[in-house]
Amino acid sequence: MKNIILIGFMGTGKTVVGRRLARILKRDFVDTDAEIERATGKSIRQLFAEEGEARFRSEESILCAKLARQEGLVIATGGGIVLNPQNVDRLREAGILIGLSADPEVILQRVGLRGNRPLLRGGNKLERIKELLRERAGAYDVAEFTLDTNFGTPEQNARAIVDYLRERGYI
Ligand code: S3P
Repeated sequence: MKNIILIGFMGTGKTVVGRRLARILKRDFVDTDAEIERATGKSIRQLFAEEGEARFRSEESILCAKLARQEGLVIATGGGIVLNPQNVDRLREAGILIGLSADPEVILQRVGLRGNRPLLRGGNKLERIKELLRERAGAYDVAEFTLDTNFGTPEQNARAIVDYLRERGYI
């Protein structure tokens, strides 16, 4: 049973939609950021601050390799995981890549006042989101299906992914 892997920018709903999807499909759910926090004993914010982004990215790649050896999971990934081509290869081998997208303004509302995204700290958050989206243009196109999460509730979005998976005969 292939893993179902959600990719997309921060604030597109990977974790909340992923949790619901896992519940609907009765599968285990893994969130890569939460796994990294568990493995390192540090919050993402702490890890970035104390050991730098490179350490975080290295943990992310190790985890990618580990997850590629598992099956039947719903996996929500960190927004930057697909920036490393080796991670993309591993994720592609490991499962079905489903993309989530949202407009910058919606992303801002979701990540809002929370200070737990180190890459969005300082300065004008909306501008920073737009800048990162520009820098990452195309990076999320490795998904075979991308769902716009601007309007739906997490439940509706999870159900839309289930519909897609059924149509394709994946489930
Ligand atoms: C990141 C996204 C975050 C987290 C880290 C870096 C990124 O995950 O992995 O802050 O580079 O886009 P979410 O996409 O779950 O916010």
